[in-house]
Amino acid sequence: MLPPLQRIPATVAALADYEPLARERMSPEAWAYFAGGVADEVTLRDNRVAFDRIKLRGRVLAEFPAGGHTRVEVLGRTWAHPVALAPVALQTWAHADGERATMAAAAATGTTMVVSTQAGQSIEDIAKAGEGAPWWFQLYIQPDRAFTESLVRRAEAAGAEALVVTVDAPVNGPRNREQRTGTQRPPGVEMVNLRGCRAPEPGSGLCGGLAGVAATWSDIGWLKSLTKLPILLKGIMDPADAARAVDAGVDGLIVSNHGGRTLDTLPATIDVLPAVAAAVAGRVPVLMDGGVRRGTDVLKALALGATAVLVGRPYVFALAAAGAPGVAYAVRILQAELGMAMTLTGCATPAQVRGSVLGQ
Ligand code: GLV
Repeated sequence: MLPPLQRIPATVAALADYEPLARERMSPEAWAYFAGGVADEVTLRDNRVAFDRIKLRGRVLAEFPAGGHTRVEVLGRTWAHPVALAPVALQTWAHADGERATMAAAAATGTTMVVSTQAGQSIEDIAKAGEGAPWWFQLYIQPDRAFTESLVRRAEAAGAEALVVTVDAPVNGPRNREQRTGTQRPPGVEMVNLRGCRAPEPGSGLCGGLAGVAATWSDIGWLKSLTKLPILLKGIMDPADAARAVDAGVDGLIVSNHGGRTLDTLPATIDVLPAVAAAVAGRVPVLMDGGVRRGTDVLKALALGATAVLVGRPYVFALAAAGAPGVAYAVRILQAELGMAMTLTGCATPAQVRGSVLGQ
């Protein structure tokens, strides 16, 4: 393993360029954990392939009287660009500076970070690194509901502006790449915010009893009664679930297949987005993640109904390669690429991006 780079090498021109740098700096176990997916990794691959299949329609001689911008409105906040940092666990395994470095980079670039329940550093320490910049908290509803409530209280007290409830992973599916490589984490790399959480007793039923204690729709009502924070559900892949979530009063949805990490052969998120957006019909913002690597991907997601997107692996690889500056530069690359894609398709602002930017 090599130490993190002191500065970002000139060879980093695109997000993908961080990948080899990260790989040589990570242990094989860490690489398998962050880069891998579930089972045969069909969904992991498809998330990317599906973006590449969608073509854009170039437009010429467009006028941009006010110059244009990449800003979007999300839940009452103006974001500098429609890209947020997805919740990713155990970032201290990718880089010793961990989530605090990601938060610092997010704050410096006007980017909303979604802090994972399974972070390697405490919610409070991560929040401090943002020095007041907006951030969201990703919540896994634990079988121990009292502990879950304590997580919500800590996130509220530390300044989270929304809860992102991941609903697609009551169990993980067979992560064969991790199993084959080994899952040994170095000492000190730990889900510190889950210390003291009671593990469920092994029980009968599916998945050693985990299915029976997993969150259900009634827990969403319970969460709503618990907090005034906006609630987004992450992991929506079906228009019927999307409609039910909106009826249940959630404030936003994230179309996600967990980066291809939970149920293999789920479709690519970009292919599911239009049907979910249609079911939601503008009542709440719809975000998406999975496979976003280029500004053109962001543009395609906006065109198919997303208010914004999230990136996961690319910024973790940037973190592993070059710490906080790496993450900040990755965001800047995506924002600049989006600006170019908008200009070349005749869109002055994200709000002007329509399905008409898509080609044959
Ligand atoms: C956690 O959410 C993971 O996918 O490992």
